[in-house]
Amino acid sequence: MKKKIACIILAAGKSTRMKSTLPKVLHPICGRPILEFTLDLVKSLKVSKSVAVVGYKHQQVKGVLAAHGVEASLQKRLLGTADAVKTALKKLRGFKGDILVLYGDTPLLSSQTIRKLLDFHAKSNSHLSVLTAIAPRPAGYGRILRDEYSGICGIAEEKDADDFQKEIKEINTGIMVFKKDKLQEALRYIKANNRNKEYYLTDAVEILYKRGALVDGLRASDINETLGVNSRLDLASAAKIMRKRINRKIAESGVTIVDPDSCFIDYGVKIGQDTTIYPFTVIENNVKIGNRCKIGPFIHLREGTRLENDCVIGNFIEVVRSRIGSGTLAKHFSYLGDTQIGKLVNIGAGCVTANWDGSRKNKTKIKDKAFIGSDTVIVAPAVIGKQAKTGAGSVVLKNTFVGNGSVVVGVPAVALKKVSKRKK
Ligand code: UD1
Ligand code: MG
Repeated sequence: MKKKIACIILAAGKSTRMKSTLPKVLHPICGRPILEFTLDLVKSLKVSKSVAVVGYKHQQVKGVLAAHGVEASLQKRLLGTADAVKTALKKLRGFKGDILVLYGDTPLLSSQTIRKLLDFHAKSNSHLSVLTAIAPRPAGYGRILRDEYSGICGIAEEKDADDFQKEIKEINTGIMVFKKDKLQEALRYIKANNRNKEYYLTDAVEILYKRGALVDGLRASDINETLGVNSRLDLASAAKIMRKRINRKIAESGVTIVDPDSCFIDYGVKIGQDTTIYPFTVIENNVKIGNRCKIGPFIHLREGTRLENDCVIGNFIEVVRSRIGSGTLAKHFSYLGDTQIGKLVNIGAGCVTANWDGSRKNKTKIKDKAFIGSDTVIVAPAVIGKQAKTGAGSVVLKNTFVGNGSVVVGVPAVALKKVSKRKK
C-alpha cells in the first residue's frame, strides 16, 4: 500500500529581497500568483493532507489558499523555515506518515519530479530525502555538502558558506521528504546560530546525519524546475520559463505561433485550432480565442475577451471585456472595450469604443454585418444595428441607437439623408 503523505507549503516569508508590499508568493507570473502553481502541484499529488504556512500579509495569502481548499497555519513571527514547519506540524498532530515540504516560491516544479522524489524516498527507506540539482550558477542557494562516501551530510546556506563551499554546484532545491518522527526529532535540535539568526530547516540534514539517520538525495534532471523566486530578476526568469511551457503547449494543440519569443500568453488562455498568432502579442488571463483566427502582430488582448472563429484582429489593437463574433475583422489601430460585436462585422482602421465616462464603464453593441468606418468613435452606451454603417471620422454620441441598415456620418453622427442626384 502507498505510504501516507502530508504536504507542508512554506509561504509566510516577507519577500525582503523583492522589495515589495505584496507578499512574494502572490507576485504573478504569466497572470497568476506564483503560489497557485505550487497549489496545483499539491492537488495533482493527491496527498492525504496539506497545510500552508502563512505570515506576512497573511489575509491576502489565505484568500488564495481558500480558493484551492488548502488549510492555513499562521507563523506569528518569521523565524525561519524550520520554525515555519514547526507551525504547520501543529495542524498535523494526528497524522502518521511522511511529510513533504514544498516552498511557495518554487513555481516551476513538475509533479513528475516530486513523484520521483516520493518514490525514491519510499524505495530507499530514508528518514530524509532531499531534492537537489546541479546549478551552473549556484549563488543564492544552499549548497549540498557530501561526506567521503558521497553521502549527503549537510547544507551550507549561501550567507554562511565558506569560499570552498561556495564553489559547490549542487544546490538544495528546498524540497524535502521526512519521516514525521525524524522531522520532529530534528526540529528539537535546530538552533538559530547563523548570520540571519533564523531557524533553518536545512540544518535538519546535518543534525539527522550526525544522529545516524539515513539521509539521501535525488537530483532533479531539469534545473529550470527548481528555480526559487527571491528577487524581481528571479521573477522575470521564472516567467520566461513558464511562458515557454505555455507557448509549447498551445503550439502542440494546433496553433501556429510565428515567433514564440515575442508572444506573451498568460496561463489558462484558450486558443482554438489553426489560429495563427503573429509576433509581438500580449494575451492576458481569461481570454478565449476560437479556431482559424489571425491574431496580431502588435496586439493586446485583455481579460474577458472572447473571439469566436475566423476573426482577424491585428496591428495595434487593444481589446478588453469584449466578445467578437465569428468572421469579424478589426485589422488596424483600434480600442474595443466592453463591446459586444456580432458576426461578419468590419471595424475600420482607428475605431474606438469609448467605454469610460469618468465614473463608470459603459457598454457598446455592434450587431451582425455592421460596417464601422475608419476613425469612428462610439461613445458608450450605444448600439449599432445590423448592417448599419458609420462614415469615416464619425462620432456616435452616447445613448444613440443606430437602426438596422442605417447609415450615420459626421460629428456628432446623424443619419445620412438620401440626396437625390440632380438631373442633368
Ligand atoms: C531556501 C533554502 C535554501 C534553498 C532555497 C531554494 C533555507 C534556510 N534555505 O533559501 O537552502 O537553496 O530555499 O529555493 O531553507 N518562509 C516561511 N517562513 C519563514 C521563512 C521563510 O514560510 O520564516 C518561506 C518563504 O515564504 C519561502 C520559503 O519559506 O516560500 C523559503 O524561504 P526563502 O526566504 O525564500 O529561502 P531561500 O533564501 O530561498
Ligand atoms: Mg526562496
